[in-house]
Amino acid sequence: MNGSIENRPEKLQDFEPSLGEFRDGVIEGLSAPAKTLPCKFLYDDRGSHLFDAICEQPEYYPTRTETGILTRHARDIARTLGPEVRLVEFGSGAGIKIRLLLQALDNPAVCLPVDISREHLLAASAALARDFPDLRIAPVCADYTAHFELPEIPGVTYRSTAAFFPGSTIGNFTRTEAVEFLDGARKLLGQGATMIVGVDLIKNEDTLRAAYDDAAGVTAAFNLNLLRRINRDLGGSFDLSRFRHEARWNTELSRIEMHLVSLREQEVLVGRRSFPFRAGETIHTENSHKYSLGGFRDLAAEAGYETIDVWTDENQLFSVHALRAQ
Ligand SMILES: C[S@@+](CC[C@H](N)C(=O)[O-])C[C@H]1O[C@@H](n2cnc3c(N)ncnc32)[C@H](O)[C@@H]1O
Repeated sequence: MNGSIENRPEKLQDFEPSLGEFRDGVIEGLSAPAKTLPCKFLYDDRGSHLFDAICEQPEYYPTRTETGILTRHARDIARTLGPEVRLVEFGSGAGIKIRLLLQALDNPAVCLPVDISREHLLAASAALARDFPDLRIAPVCADYTAHFELPEIPGVTYRSTAAFFPGSTIGNFTRTEAVEFLDGARKLLGQGATMIVGVDLIKNEDTLRAAYDDAAGVTAAFNLNLLRRINRDLGGSFDLSRFRHEARWNTELSRIEMHLVSLREQEVLVGRRSFPFRAGETIHTENSHKYSLGGFRDLAAEAGYETIDVWTDENQLFSVHALRAQ
């Protein structure tokens, strides 16, 4: 790359979900006997910035703990991935953690950040291109639970493919969905691909609940932002002051659940559709499943991956797994 020309990302591959998909997901979720909304829609541009602010909260141990593990083991991970790798990141967000890998990797061929949040993805990709002037960055705006293809970038050759899926985002899936996702990723990436995935571990309930209900109210604002987005994009009539954020620990399913609790009996419109709420009724907006090390290894095996390495922090709060697609 000529030092005088600023490195820029490749043209965005744009598979952003349509407004119609958003509307269908919202109507279906609010029509269910136990109301729910798909968590992927938490991430509009404002939602993505609020998530970045959550990562800075003292209660939110996952980001700093995972970053610590990646910092300590970046060289081991780089050895596992090998030279001239094509690196795909699922749910790339602000693209902070991948820098730790990129700095350690031997001559990475291309980096493909995949995220549903279009504007945030564009900004993060531009920043990455600026900071890694010799690296090709090829952003893909897509819902990674739907079918999409990875673009071949002209002039880029690579020796192997790897994926990075940090942030314990895999915990947003139920166990069955996580197996399905990993199985689909194996087909997308190809046999022999390596997947580096961040997995949050089971721990005491107080630590978990505090992480998803910080004292500054940032997670609450993040959760309520989904109603704001429905108002803005779908003609919703949600009064945000009539709902409150709640984080619940579900012991049986080993997961934190985020809910929006209706503070009173009320009727809400989305376009021309009307949805009644009882006082205390909730909209379930997100799950965050927690695993044991063995439990996640079994899940990965079910999806067709061999676990080749696992790294944790000294307090066993969080884990990073290296999986090889069989
Ligand atoms: C928990 S955040 C993690 C962000 C970042 N990777 C990190 O570790 O801090 C989840 C990220 O995945 C993206 N995301 C969530 N659901 C998605 C989906 N179905 N398809 C694509 N991206 C999704 C969000 O926009 C967000 O950037």
